[in-house]
Amino acid sequence: MGAMKSSSVRRAHPEEAGPVAALAARTFPLACPPTLAGEHVADFIATHLSEAEFDRHLADPAHRVFLVDGADGPVGYALVLHGPHDEGPQALRGAPSAYLSKLYVDPDHHGGAVARALLDAVRADAAGLPVWLGVNADNARAKRFYAKSGFVVAGVREFTVGGTTFVDDVLVLGAATGA
Ligand SMILES: CC(C)(COP(=O)(O)OP(=O)(O)OC[C@H]1O[C@@H](n2cnc3c(N)ncnc32)[C@H](O)[C@@H]1OP(=O)(O)O)[C@@H](O)C(=O)NCCC(=O)NCCS
Repeated sequence: MGAMKSSSVRRAHPEEAGPVAALAARTFPLACPPTLAGEHVADFIATHLSEAEFDRHLADPAHRVFLVDGADGPVGYALVLHGPHDEGPQALRGAPSAYLSKLYVDPDHHGGAVARALLDAVRADAAGLPVWLGVNADNARAKRFYAKSGFVVAGVREFTVGGTTFVDDVLVLGAATGA
């Protein structure tokens, strides 16, 4: 992977909730199943990806927002929630782990170094904690990216948006399972 200038990763500053929320709002639809109605996508964004929500994440010492900058602001972000979680791979529940809640990159930067750089930063920051995530079972591009990055399937979970329940694959970085 070439050392693209745009692939250097940094932590978001506490006052950057606005630009991060804007990036999150424009990239979230990319991961949604095509059958999900636009109004439900918009509701999810308004509830979970608002500036106020990112303000909260940025103020929480157990949460991390990593960014890669482009010419006009961030072009990719990762949101990681450290802690014991009551969801995720069965074997990790209740134990410290790093939940990669969001990994989103602007389409102009897909196929480049941005996603890998974000994931590398997440992994380094996790400092040995298991890293896991949920990805919609139909999100073929993301699943391919995670597989080539060393994630393995650890189960499934249900993910409800707008009253419709979808299936997510739950993935964990291979080293965490000994795979
Ligand atoms: C997921 C994401 C961060 C990955 O970053 P990326 O830069 O696209 O990743 P890469 O291009 O390195 O890897 C994607 C792989 O999927 C392949 N791919 C692309 N479209 C595909 C498809 N429809 N089906 C299967 N594989 C596909 C690519 O060829 C590539 O594989 P390769 O390197 O073996 O050729 C990025 O695509 C993204 O932001 N997507 C939208 C948001 C999202 O879905 N986030 C994850 C939510 S859990």
